[in-house]
Formats: sequence, C-alpha cells, structure tokens
Amino acid sequence: MYIPLHLKYRPQQLSQIIGQEHIVRTLDNAILSGGSHSTNALSKIAPAYLFTGPKGTGKTSTARILAKSLNCQSTQEPTTKPCGECNSCQTISHSSSLDVTELDAASHSGVDNIREIVSNLQLKPIESRRKILIVDECHALSQQSWQALLKTVEQPPAHVVFIFCTTEVHKVPETIISRCQKFDFRRVSLSLVVDYLEKVAHQESINITPTALTAIAKACHGHLRDSLKLLDQLTLLEEGEITPNWVWELSGTIPEHDLVTFCENITKGEITGNLGILQDWMKYGKHPITIHTSLVSFLKDLLICKINPNDRNLTLLEEDTWNELTTISKSWSINHIHSAIALLMVRQNLMRDESAHLWLEATLIEIVPTTKSSYQPWKDWKTAQDAINWAKEQLPHLSQAQLQEHWQKLTPINGKKAPAWVQLVEKLQTDSQLQTA
Ligand SMILES: Nc1ncnc2c1ncn2[C@@H]1O[C@H](COP(=O)(O)OP(=O)(O)O)[C@@H](O)[C@H]1O
Ligand SMILES: [Mg+2]
Ligand SMILES: [Zn+2]
Repeated sequence: MYIPLHLKYRPQQLSQIIGQEHIVRTLDNAILSGGSHSTNALSKIAPAYLFTGPKGTGKTSTARILAKSLNCQSTQEPTTKPCGECNSCQTISHSSSLDVTELDAASHSGVDNIREIVSNLQLKPIESRRKILIVDECHALSQQSWQALLKTVEQPPAHVVFIFCTTEVHKVPETIISRCQKFDFRRVSLSLVVDYLEKVAHQESINITPTALTAIAKACHGHLRDSLKLLDQLTLLEEGEITPNWVWELSGTIPEHDLVTFCENITKGEITGNLGILQDWMKYGKHPITIHTSLVSFLKDLLICKINPNDRNLTLLEEDTWNELTTISKSWSINHIHSAIALLMVRQNLMRDESAHLWLEATLIEIVPTTKSSYQPWKDWKTAQDAINWAKEQLPHLSQAQLQEHWQKLTPINGKKAPAWVQLVEKLQTDSQLQTA
C-alpha cells in the first residue's frame, strides 16, 4: 500500500522533531522527571500545555508524541523513546485510546461533546498513567466550550494533562493561556528543511537534484508537510531526475533567476525584456497573484540586501542570488525600491481582476521611471554636448542632428534643462522599446 510521505515520515519521538530544539529539550526534561509515580511532586510535567505557531511546524505531531511518551507501556516510567508498538502507543496513533482524547476543535466544537469529555477526565485513567486531552486547532472552540473547560484547566486532577494546539493564539482566552506552559513553534529554517528532504529523498531512492530540493523548501516557505507533499507529487510525475523546473512548474512558483533578470532589466530600463518575462510566466500558467507576491517579496529582499548586505539569513535566498542582488542593489536607491514596492502594493487588489495581466504590464512599465526618478547622470555633464553624447548612448538609433533638435526644443523643469533632458530621453527610450515589442 502506498503511504504518502508526510504520513510515513510523521515523527514518532521528540528527537525526530526538527527545528524546535528549545521545545524538545524542555519536554525531554519534563518527561524524564516524571518518576515512577507519574504524578509525584518532583514531576515537571505541566497540567496544561499550549503549542502555538504556524501550520506544519510540528504542533500536532509533538502533542501526540508527548501523549505517547507519558503513557507508553514498554517502560515503567514515562519515556522519551515511546515504543510505538504497545497498546497505548498504537491506540494513540489510531485515535482510539481510552485515556488519550484528540479533539479537532475545527470540526467538533460542540459544547455537549466537551462537557462529556471534561467529566470523563475526572475518572482515573483506565489503562495508562495519565488521562490526556489534546485539543487541536483550539482557537476554533466556542466561548461556551472554553467555559466548560476552564474549571478543569484551573484545577485539574493530578492525572490529567491538557495539550492545546493552535495557529491563532490571540483567539485563546487569557484565562486559559495563563494556566498553560506555552511553547512557540518556529517556522523551520530553509536549510533544515532542505537537509530533511534530502534524507527522505535518499531513503526513498528519489532521484532529485540538490537545487530542486532547495526549490521545494522555498516554494513551501519552511512548511514541512507541504514540502513532503510536493516531493510526493513530483515523484509521481517524473520518472527521471527531478529538476527545479519541475518544482517551479508544479508549485506555480517563480524561479529566482527570473526575478534576478527582472530586477536587472529594471536597472537597465529594459521594459521589453520584462514584458517578455511576464508573458512567459503567464504562458506557463503562473497566476497573477503568485507573480505579484513573488515580485513584492523579491523587492523586499532587495531592500534588505541594500540596507544590510550581511543579512542574507533574513531572506530565503540562495547565496548566488544574494550575490547577484548585492550587485543590482548598487544601482537602486532605497527610495527607488520603496516606491516600486509601494506601486505594486497599490495594485494588489487588481490581481484578482480579469484583466490582472494588463495591470501587471502597466505596473512593470511604471516601475521603471519611478525607480529612475532620483537618477542624476547630469552630475558629470559640463556642456550641452556632454548631455547629447549621453543621450546618444541611451538612444543609439537617433542621429546627432535629431538629438540636437530635441535639445533645442526642450522645455526646462524649474529652469533646469538637465533633468528635463533625462526625462525626455527616458520617454523616447520607452517609446522605441514599445514599438519594437
Ligand atoms: N518540526 C517538525 N519536524 C519533523 N517533521 C515535521 C515537523 N513539522 C511538521 N513535520 C511534518 O509535517 C507533518 C505535519 O506536521 P504537524 O505536526 O501536523 O504540524 P502542525 O500541527 O504544526 O500543523 C508531520 O507528519 C511531519 O511529517
Ligand atoms: Mg496541527
Ligand atoms: Zn509504547
């Protein structure tokens, strides 16, 4: 039978939870302090835990492992290495344990259900050391359900452990939070996800390039379950070697090197190049929202690169890309980047529009002059001829005579000819690029 990777590789012990070292260490110590009488005074097992953090970071897995660790029957005492084989471990895995209840609040938040569970908690465990209630997605509980839980959370019988999991801790009542030992699950870092995927790929004999593994981790933003699912899908799709192209295709994400070229084009004022890239993206089925998000996020990375060239770890970028960005960022002022991001953000809502691609095109064209507005090539000009020579470089298809004529007719801005000249040349450039497009 085929088992999806994210289920096959569900961690079975705390030591297999990655990227949450602080949590694993604290829980390990607590479990080991459990002692032969699980509820003795030295035990550091808290009566209630609250696991918070983004999706796919290991909250539910850790809750189940903690339950198994406390109740595993292979040892006399709680163990950090639950066996996975005994009746207790097995029934927890299959959600049929008499002492461990896992409640998915998103689907069962009925208050009657909760009242029944709570009254059942008062009874001694039937076949294990502890009675454990795992409330997954607990933010979905109704006010009444919290009310029904509160008294027992405040004064739990010694054999009871609550484990609340949520992605939205701000929706959990303060009275509950204050009774819990709280653990913040962090998004797993890109390199840890890549290492993890590499191990899985190796064990499963999946033929995939290292850059494709990185592309998966990036496309899923440090979300392990999604990464494993994507890897799964890729193996079904491709019999030969899996390359980043497949990842980009299947996940609908934009390749990083395209984004680099895109920024380079803006620096060079090459509008047509960018319109071409945009067309390719659309042709390969990238959604305007994805394109928009990728652009904003990449420009944000460019901003980080500009402000702090040593802080690559604030981004998810690869070293090559980062180095290229460092070069590109020299041609952009912080204001340029800000205004480009601002312009994109203003257009955000239009990306759901039927004509989203037209809006994207318009925006890409607009970004170019915006980002050049504080560009001052005239600093090096001494004579009118210098200005014309500079223009000749930008507009090689125009003759000296044509350029001189433009110069003569030029209307100065605030009495100054140079900025007006740069504006005119940029406009002529854009016009000619649009003609050839
Ligand atoms: N920190 C982690 N370490 C190892 N595997 C993880 C981790 N987080 C998630 N996973 C993988 O993703 C799957 C789903 O994780 P889960 O515990 O349900 O996340 P959450 O409850 O935070 O959304 C697991 O079966 C496992 O394969
Ligand atoms: Mg979960
Ligand atoms: Zn066991």
